Amino acid sequence: MKNYKRHLITAALPYANGAVHIGHLAGVYVPADIYARYLRLKGEDVKFICGSDEHGVPITIKARKLGCTPQDVVDKYHAIIKDSFQKFGISFDIYSRTSSEIHHKTAAAFFRKLYDDGKFIEKETEQYYDTEAGAFLADRYITGTCPKCGAEGAYGDQCEKCGSTLSPDELINPRSAISGSEPVKKKTKHWYLPLDQYEQWLKEWILEGHKEWKTNVYGQCKSWLDGGLQPRAVSRDLDWGIPVPVEGAEGKVLYVWFDAPIGYISNTIELLPEEWEKWWKSEDTKMVHFIGKDNIVFHCIVFPSMLKAYGDGFILPENVPANEFLNLEGEKISTSRNWAVWLHEYLEEFPGQEDVLRYVLCANAPETKDNDFTWKDFQTRNNSELVAIYGNFVNRAVVLTHKYFGGKVPTAGRLQDADKEVLAQIPLIKKQLEADLESYKFREALKEAMNLARLGNKYLTETEPWKLAKTDMERVAAILNVSLQLCANLSIAFAPFLPFSSAKLQQMLNLENPGWERFGSAHILEENHPLNPAQLLFSKVEDAAVEAQIAKLNATKKANQMQEAGSSSRQHSTSPLPGKEECTFDDFMKMDIRTATVLEAVRVPKTDKLLKLTIDTGLDIRTIVSGIAEHYSPEEMIGKQICILANLLPRKIKGIESKGMILMAKDESGRMRFITPAEAVDNGACVN
Ligand code: MF3
Ligand code: ZN
Repeated sequence: MKNYKRHLITAALPYANGAVHIGHLAGVYVPADIYARYLRLKGEDVKFICGSDEHGVPITIKARKLGCTPQDVVDKYHAIIKDSFQKFGISFDIYSRTSSEIHHKTAAAFFRKLYDDGKFIEKETEQYYDTEAGAFLADRYITGTCPKCGAEGAYGDQCEKCGSTLSPDELINPRSAISGSEPVKKKTKHWYLPLDQYEQWLKEWILEGHKEWKTNVYGQCKSWLDGGLQPRAVSRDLDWGIPVPVEGAEGKVLYVWFDAPIGYISNTIELLPEEWEKWWKSEDTKMVHFIGKDNIVFHCIVFPSMLKAYGDGFILPENVPANEFLNLEGEKISTSRNWAVWLHEYLEEFPGQEDVLRYVLCANAPETKDNDFTWKDFQTRNNSELVAIYGNFVNRAVVLTHKYFGGKVPTAGRLQDADKEVLAQIPLIKKQLEADLESYKFREALKEAMNLARLGNKYLTETEPWKLAKTDMERVAAILNVSLQLCANLSIAFAPFLPFSSAKLQQMLNLENPGWERFGSAHILEENHPLNPAQLLFSKVEDAAVEAQIAKLNATKKANQMQEAGSSSRQHSTSPLPGKEECTFDDFMKMDIRTATVLEAVRVPKTDKLLKLTIDTGLDIRTIVSGIAEHYSPEEMIGKQICILANLLPRKIKGIESKGMILMAKDESGRMRFITPAEAVDNGACVN
């Protein structure tokens, strides 16, 4: 095996059109982080590169939907994503973004060099165009029926139902995703990377040279290569992205899949402006791309062809250990259907339990096939593995040492066979764990670490030092010494997987950042070495917590069903839409919605429906007449905090001037409830 001087680890740049969920973590970021942490612990020179992918049609569609700019969208999600990764301990050396100036420059220069070197084909073709919106319809801007599986709503680049890669021309009954209108064909010019010219080279490089790649990755590459490669357009007619740096290319930007992988390079440049070339252009660098299966073609075929076309010594990935997909409770994770466990929500709902999710997602990672995440499994793995085995063992060892030896590591003395056998296992487990990590088998590697904990737990249960304490303190000392050595080894073995727990355990053991080389030793802790007080490494996940999560998912499911029922009745009848017409962000911002408190409430004489309310808006005291008397008595309203539309034109109702409107939720049956802030806030607080 080749000895590399440095390791460049990349993790797919997530699209900044939504937050990140457990599927992202399990498929890409947890394995990549484990690998990076492992190599660093071994003292290797490592750079772990990532950032947000901020271009592409999904982002512009999201912006259109929200009535804001694409920049607003990416600013919002970049911040959320970055924060989630950081809180889960994903140890990037840099997490940057593709809207950065340095990336724009790098990607444009990359394109320009290929252009100048004559590596592109320039082609004029007819493409779908939305005459109402005045825009070409690339990728997800066009939808229709999938030619492969017949599903509705397939996109111009992909059918999410069957996973086929598509081109807009293949869609049956195409529609514009902007206006819904039927698109027309219009001529446009684009630049193509002639992948067919790289086919032979790719076959040699991958099919001959990388037979060791994971079967799912190798298999996908083989099927692409056997099917024959076509030239691929690397530009698009869009107004969001990196402008094509060529004369006569107004209104055209780089295709997102052209610019995004260059993000790995520009982020390295941003991190190491002086020495980035050493990382990208030296045969001593081992580059590994961590991605999900939908990214395989781009990382194994397109990006390598780009690097090859560029020349100038750029290295290629040594491996691309792509994972399959993680499902949630038996269904495909979906951002648009909100079928996901969002990392930022987990962080709030399970504070301090980052390692638990890391553990469960690695133990159940979709390494060779799609896998399922269930909350029940989450609970079981936490309670009967982390708590009952690893946590329990460590706790017993440390607590007993405090109890019998004043918190100092006792003398090992003469060891018995049982002790020696346990200690002899440590280097064997280490060896297996390393072999697993080096072949990207993270689930297996984690199992090895857990086996070490299992060994310790069993050892303590069998030797029962708490019983011997009355008769044979020397023996107790030996057992606890062995147990503590095991704890120290565990803190290293688990460090790549469960960094927070390892730090906690090392703090307990009063052991400062031991390197990987100490793992395997029976003498990590010296005799008389003082420990710190015991703390629990893990705590039980109660049934109620799991039930709450399942209830949350059921609510999502119900909301989706209702929405789908609504949209299908819309398709099948001509009755008016149940939803309102779209509005822009500006439309919304015109409404001055504020919190207010009801000071007085009386019935309006000779009416059934009206209450006259005197309210404190924080800005003034005013009167609002509201049609809620059938739903609330005056007494029920007094003192309540409500929300009002404060800038509604005043009008006279039954001779009373009413200034504003009270926000009410009204369900199908006509029942109305007022809207109140979740907790009391100042009157006059803006609601948006
Ligand atoms: N944004 C893409 C996705 O989420 C991944 C881009 S990876 C990169 O599927 F290499 F292009 F950066
Ligand atoms: Zn399909």
